[in-house]
Amino acid sequence: MTIIIDHHSDQNDAGDEIGEKNQGITKEEEETELVLDAGFEAPHTNSFGHTFRDYDAESERRRGVEEFYRVNHIGQTVDFVRKMRQEYGKLNRTEMSIWECCELLNEFIDESDPDLDEPQIEHLLQTAEAIRKDYPDEDWLHLTGLIHDLGKVLLHSSFGELPQWAVVGDTYPVGCAFDESIVHHKYFKENQDYDNPSYNTKYGIYTEGCGLDNVLMSWGHDDYMYLVAKENQTTLPSAGLFIIRYHSFYALHKSEAYKYLMNDEDTENMKWLKVFNKYDLYSKSKVRINVEEVKPYYLSLINKYFPAKLKW
Ligand SMILES: [Fe+2]
Ligand SMILES: [Fe+2]
Repeated sequence: MTIIIDHHSDQNDAGDEIGEKNQGITKEEEETELVLDAGFEAPHTNSFGHTFRDYDAESERRRGVEEFYRVNHIGQTVDFVRKMRQEYGKLNRTEMSIWECCELLNEFIDESDPDLDEPQIEHLLQTAEAIRKDYPDEDWLHLTGLIHDLGKVLLHSSFGELPQWAVVGDTYPVGCAFDESIVHHKYFKENQDYDNPSYNTKYGIYTEGCGLDNVLMSWGHDDYMYLVAKENQTTLPSAGLFIIRYHSFYALHKSEAYKYLMNDEDTENMKWLKVFNKYDLYSKSKVRINVEEVKPYYLSLINKYFPAKLKW
């Protein structure tokens, strides 16, 4: 079975990718980041020999992205998020190991990301291996790289085949005002929470410094994988869980919005998320990974941080 998803496209893994592409990292900032990131040599061209984020020539694609966010911004309400967390928090759909989930996701082929023409499992392993090279002692971060996108199984028929807008794309809090830095913010006007006085103030249903753990995030693969990891009693450090849950939260990590909801632990974990995000994008280059060669290492990490079978 092959399911075509737009994963890492602007249209959808908008989270990992659209975010970075659309939220205004300038070329200069990008270069600076690379220089500062000693040891990690980020490729400047992708598999097709173009520079990353070469979207300008593709106005049609842009329209697709915009339409994606229109639907996303209308649909992600407090009620919707609560319903999804309630439903998917039951973890009663299947039981499988982390590696089995990698293989399941690998059946999904990404067609629409101009920076990626490889199967998901290669993206996952490229991210993990790139981190491993620069941070050899942080084995939890290698594993986080491997599993951060596994929540995309929500697109699979056995997981309810959720629409793209409820699986990928940038994420943001619901239950308080939508920050203007969120991509295509204008479409929130059509969100039913937009005019709700309980939900449309700076703090909304939250309090200052309440901690992101207590914040409802728009529903997608990030929050789902976080729930799966937590409920299956992973022993990953809190920074790993933080990366999984917020890796598409671009309003926070690029625009520094919503910082007033963070507590001290979030601030600490944020440092690792910033490290991680560079690899999530730049690992999408043509460094082919020999899956069988690295598999034993990742199986040992899975064994260290997760039970043999997880509920999903
Ligand atoms: Fe992602
Ligand atoms: Fe990713």
